[in-house]
Amino acid sequence: MKCVVVAGARPNFMKVAPILEAFRERQSEHSLVLVHTGQHYDAAMSGDFFRDLGLPQPDVDLGVGSGSHAEQTARIMIAFERFCVEHKPHWVLVVGDVNSTFACAVTAKKLGISVAHVEAGLRSRDMSMPEEINRLCTDAVSDLLFTTEESANANLAREGFSPERIHFAGNTMIDTLLCHIDAARALPLPPPFQAGSYAVLTLHRPSNVDCTDQFQGVLDALEPVTSRMPVAFPVHPRTAHALEQVRVPANLVCLAPMSYIRFLGLVANARMVLTDSGGIQEETTVLGIPCVTLRNNTERPVTCELGTNILAGTDPEYIRQAICSVLTNPKRSGRVPPRWDGKAGLRIADVLLGHASAATGC
Ligand code: UD1
Repeated sequence: MKCVVVAGARPNFMKVAPILEAFRERQSEHSLVLVHTGQHYDAAMSGDFFRDLGLPQPDVDLGVGSGSHAEQTARIMIAFERFCVEHKPHWVLVVGDVNSTFACAVTAKKLGISVAHVEAGLRSRDMSMPEEINRLCTDAVSDLLFTTEESANANLAREGFSPERIHFAGNTMIDTLLCHIDAARALPLPPPFQAGSYAVLTLHRPSNVDCTDQFQGVLDALEPVTSRMPVAFPVHPRTAHALEQVRVPANLVCLAPMSYIRFLGLVANARMVLTDSGGIQEETTVLGIPCVTLRNNTERPVTCELGTNILAGTDPEYIRQAICSVLTNPKRSGRVPPRWDGKAGLRIADVLLGHASAATGC
């Protein structure tokens, strides 16, 4: 069996690392090929993650770069189709919900190649999010759906996917966190941050940063926390452009995008985290760090039900209230969701290897 693993954007890299490692651990004779689409290309968004995670250099970099959704998706499809026609993989494995995930899944399926989706079944029910469209379309064409939480199993069952296609594997992003947390905690914090007395902010959703009034409203709503402690703000490239148009509150310390282990160390020592990311809701849940999510919905409800996450919305008044409630009564649940145990990569490799053995008889 030849299996192609696709990674394209920053949140993909920590999701593929445990799968590659699991195939190594199983000493499989099947060949695994790592394709980087090049959706993210800066060292800070890509290369530094490969180094931190000990990932092998990709076998192929499609080098597609940035663009509008249609331009970027189309460039990935054209380049990935050529790659698949030449290399003829039996399986294509995609992770998460970025444009690379959707583009490669659909391209592979149209060539008759089997598709596996890791992090299947998550739903925000918000079609204004490009990621929700990517999730729905990727799941629709996937032969194997690997899920991270019970809500995803229920969503897929409700949408009519047959149970044989669904595998409750757990969370490969948490495999990676558990593997690197000791190294992350051992790193010194950058000044002026001291353990337990600062907050961390990340913002990159178009709905929060592309409109200046909305972005300014969110920044102003941070006042209950910026008036009490420094807030570390590693700035995503999309947000860097928008930041030139707004007033930055005092005590908000803008930083360059951070490598995986430095950022994990920063989050692990924080008093609280404010974010519109998906993955950080999961990471804070496992670390027991209170998280205020600056979005109107989450496709990861287990982080609110069992974890430390509070869905604040994007209205400045609700954000203020959520921050005040966390400052006075931090939500520190000790309940880690089922199967977020560091073994998701192995479960995924075993299912795929089982399919390969059945197909090849070895
Ligand atoms: C993408 C994903 C989003 C994910 C996020 C994580 C989609 C639809 N969105 O959003 O789900 O949460 O990645 O970061 O796939 N840029 C650089 N350097 C880079 C990459 C991008 O400067 O290495 C800049 C470019 O100006 C680009 C912009 O960032 O236009 C946005 O990049 P893009 O990949 O289009 O989307 P993200 O906002 O990063």
